[in-house]
Amino acid sequence: MFSETNENEIRINELFVSPNFRRKNIGTKLVNFVKDFGKKEKFLRICLTVNLENKTAKIFYKRQGFVPEGRVRNFYGRGKDGILLAFYL
Ligand SMILES: CC(C)(COP(=O)(O)OP(=O)(O)OC[C@H]1O[C@@H](n2cnc3c(N)ncnc32)[C@H](O)[C@@H]1OP(=O)(O)O)[C@@H](O)C(=O)NCCC(=O)NCCS
Repeated sequence: MFSETNENEIRINELFVSPNFRRKNIGTKLVNFVKDFGKKEKFLRICLTVNLENKTAKIFYKRQGFVPEGRVRNFYGRGKDGILLAFYL
């Protein structure tokens, strides 16, 4: 689910909750686990990229306190941009 990209940063690569179990706080608990781990291990931030068109993910991560840090051109293929989001620990 997540990896350490350098000594300061954790990257969430995939976060997926089975459709039948969404809106039950499971995604929040998973993100909180990463936050707790990052704080304990003294990382600076958590980052990830979401598809510009993924409204649910954008709302979800905003709710978790992530802030946009810029657009990533063609991250999901030609003409499909992503947004880099970060949470500062
Ligand atoms: C994004 C995702 C991981 C959220 O998981 P989840 O377990 O449903 O999220 P939670 O129940 O913890 O939701 C927390 C809050 O986020 C917001 N939220 C989550 N899903 C939402 C939706 N479909 N519409 C609007 N707000 C939403 C709400 O504010 C929600 O709080 P509430 O239910 O009290 O209103 C899940 O929708 C998913 O797996 N999506 C497909 C994969 C994906 O897009 N992953 C993210 C890219 S890495």
